[in-house]
Amino acid sequence: MRDADRVIIFDTTLRDGEQSPGASMNLEQKLQVARALRDLGVDVIEAGFAAASPGDLEAIQAVSREVEGPSIASLARCTRGDIDAAWKGLKDAPRRRCHVFLATSPIHRDFKLKLAKDEIIRRAVDGVKLARERFDDVEFSTEDAARTELEFLAEVVERVIEAGAGTVNIPDTVGYALPTTYADTLRYLKKNVRGIDDVIVSVHCHNDLGLAVANSLAGVMAGARQVECTINGIGERAGNASLEEIVMAFRTRHDVLKVQTGVKTERLYPTSRLVSQVTGLHVQRNKAIVGQNAFAHEAGIHQHGMLTHRETYEIMRPEEVGFTKSQLVLGKHSGRHALKERLVALGYALDDAAVDKVFQDFKVLADKKKDIYDADIEALVIHGQMLAQGGRAWELEALSTTSGTGTLPVASIALRSRDGEQRRDAATGDGPVDAVYRAIEKITGIPVKLRDYQIVSVSTGEDAQGEVSIEVEHASGVYRGRALSTDIVEGSARAFLDVVNRIALKTPATDEARREEMGTV
Ligand code: KIV
Ligand code: ZN
Repeated sequence: MRDADRVIIFDTTLRDGEQSPGASMNLEQKLQVARALRDLGVDVIEAGFAAASPGDLEAIQAVSREVEGPSIASLARCTRGDIDAAWKGLKDAPRRRCHVFLATSPIHRDFKLKLAKDEIIRRAVDGVKLARERFDDVEFSTEDAARTELEFLAEVVERVIEAGAGTVNIPDTVGYALPTTYADTLRYLKKNVRGIDDVIVSVHCHNDLGLAVANSLAGVMAGARQVECTINGIGERAGNASLEEIVMAFRTRHDVLKVQTGVKTERLYPTSRLVSQVTGLHVQRNKAIVGQNAFAHEAGIHQHGMLTHRETYEIMRPEEVGFTKSQLVLGKHSGRHALKERLVALGYALDDAAVDKVFQDFKVLADKKKDIYDADIEALVIHGQMLAQGGRAWELEALSTTSGTGTLPVASIALRSRDGEQRRDAATGDGPVDAVYRAIEKITGIPVKLRDYQIVSVSTGEDAQGEVSIEVEHASGVYRGRALSTDIVEGSARAFLDVVNRIALKTPATDEARREEMGTV
């Protein structure tokens, strides 16, 4: 018997989230995110779209074999080929779900699918029946539901429930709904669809009008008991509903919403940081719940209020979401034991080998930087994990630059390729960083166009580590990369190598092109 107040958190960071341009992840990164989602306590992890690409299939298989606890899902169209691929991906998962979908709105029916209403119903029903031949747990999504005629939507939903769907998802695929219209749609379905009270109704909202979270909450108030969302709200275009905002709204406004989830909220911030690091997608400073400024109080009047009574200006405590203030913790003489204790306090359960690696990096950093803050340690862990993922096509061996007023900036670089060969080259540029980028391009033969370059300080102090984030355009798509260093030119070189390695080792162009061809959003 399900608890009527319990909302299922269906995370689609690895499927819909990964469809953010330039956010594609490699296999190791997807596994890392899946483990973090398990530790966070989500109920369902949509690990990919098995038929979309060999990379998706492989990731679903790996997550299914390794990540126990949540149910693992794959997206599938209503075809035998897609459902077979989903089975191939999920068969080793202790708990698995097949998520079939078909568009229902007039615009999709007429222009994308070129199918009449009765054919849509036939395909949807056949898709669910096919999926039920292999899976006990089948979800059906009426793609673009928010722009579908209510009567027709109700008919499709009723028929897929009869065919065996245990969850019916009502997506606002293009982020068109308003909280009132979306809630009306769900109420209409609740009232007019036979059998709807025996299944879970799910919401899946996109953020094109900035309403994904508001619409999801409105859907829950109208009876939905599953929310589909992503960490940091990543996803195609303006993204999906943000998991951390949804979960904290349920918790903070339980007085009104009266529902709960199984999410361990203190894991929200570390999970957000991890997803941001592996996708290269920055979290804006003022982002609710997980942005750097989410709990910062600048104005004197606020600070005074906070000191007198926290709740004057704070509706959630930073610790509830795992946000620890940047504290002065360690220095050059701190030992491995102190570092390990701090790692545990920050929520990182690392094995001995991983602690040794962070300790080595910590010692190197402590030689360059007097005070080491929590943010520095966290950055070392996440960057260390990224580097440990292996499969890097190029490593930085040596770098030197000369620049100054009236001289042409020059960079000379030595890189080591995956097969152990050292390659050197030099180049000039508009500045030292540009010269470094030109030299790396010459060595790797991967030409890119720089679209964005940002550097932010990770902690405080003159010797703070800088985190360099860049976005580049390559013939195969848009890529983002990041790196950390106390030296900004070296950090810039490493960030550039991060994107070069992403380009060299992945095939997002193929994956994205296939998804486009399949018409999924
Ligand atoms: O936005 C959408 O409609 C989707 C479905 C495929 C669930 O992502
Ligand atoms: Zn979607």
